[in-house]
Amino acid sequence: MKMLVTGGAGFIGSNLVDQLISEANEVQVIDNFSSGKKENCNDKAIYHKLDISSINNIDALKKIFEDVDTIFHCAALARVQPSIIDPLKYEVNNTLGLMNVLKAAADVKVRRLIYSASSSAYGPTENLPSKESDPVNPISPYANQKYYGELCCKMFSEVYGIETVSLRYFNVYGERQNLGGAYATVVGIFINQILEGNPLTINGDGSQRRDFTYVKDVVNANILASSSSKVGSGEVINIGSGKNISINDLADMFGAEKKYLKPVNEPFANLADIRKAKELLNWEPLVDLDSWIKEYKLSNRVNII
Ligand SMILES: NC(=O)c1ccc[n+]([C@@H]2O[C@H](COP(=O)([O-])OP(=O)(O)OC[C@H]3O[C@@H](n4cnc5c(N)ncnc54)[C@H](O)[C@@H]3O)[C@@H](O)[C@H]2O)c1
Repeated sequence: MKMLVTGGAGFIGSNLVDQLISEANEVQVIDNFSSGKKENCNDKAIYHKLDISSINNIDALKKIFEDVDTIFHCAALARVQPSIIDPLKYEVNNTLGLMNVLKAAADVKVRRLIYSASSSAYGPTENLPSKESDPVNPISPYANQKYYGELCCKMFSEVYGIETVSLRYFNVYGERQNLGGAYATVVGIFINQILEGNPLTINGDGSQRRDFTYVKDVVNANILASSSSKVGSGEVINIGSGKNISINDLADMFGAEKKYLKPVNEPFANLADIRKAKELLNWEPLVDLDSWIKEYKLSNRVNII
């Protein structure tokens, strides 16, 4: 099958590229390497260095998409806090980027597009676990854009006939996650702090709870979404572990000293109801965070108390 991954040099996209190649697909990648890395590239895939958010690139996108069966749209400026600092940059990149990809894909009749959506769409809620039919409450530019992207995908299925599916990922961790910089998330930040011998920094009192999802489980969800006959009309599907833990619990799993910082504006808890993923994709998470951390500590000889 001819597959294309936007954002395929990034954390989730590059894990997806490797899996697609190992399943004997022909894989192309579009990435502008804004946060993607050369070392994530697979020498069996074809890479196009291109900015998807520039309207001037629509013809180039169409040319690349000719003959492509499925697009996995992972490209985005990911992360909540940097989007609050620079909402315009995020808007152009994430909203126009998706719109260009959808328009070019529909024009050349790509069969299906799988959209990397985000659990941030739920925002603060006491109604947990979150079901896809629950009201959304995005509280950052990034969350708004990711949610609007779902609406764009559904609209493109209805108006332009391209099959789409939106997968709402919950806090993804695993190999190739960023360990530092603006794009690092808490598991990566903790690993980095441990490697550097620093205490684990926690925003607020650490009682906030998160549903953490392993990157290869997210990859499997994408691959199942590309072939399931039960989706293609803009369905929204949670991809989470179905369990949540507090940030204090997470720090305890790593077993290092904690340091508390000022709280940031973030939902108190998230937790996915994952029944729809089972029903429509026959997907279930296979790896849990605790075992992954134990494995990580063993294989990297991370010597912590
Ligand atoms: N990591 C998570 O916990 C998480 C959770 C929910 C949703 N998501 C979504 O999953 C997707 C992948 O996230 P990630 O964590 O792998 O992020 P990432 O930053 O590692 O990867 C994103 C990739 O997109 C590329 N990119 C960004 N803008 C581009 C543009 N205009 N043109 C071409 N390429 C561009 C980047 O260079 C990078 O390689 C994103 O859409 C993100 O919103 C991630």
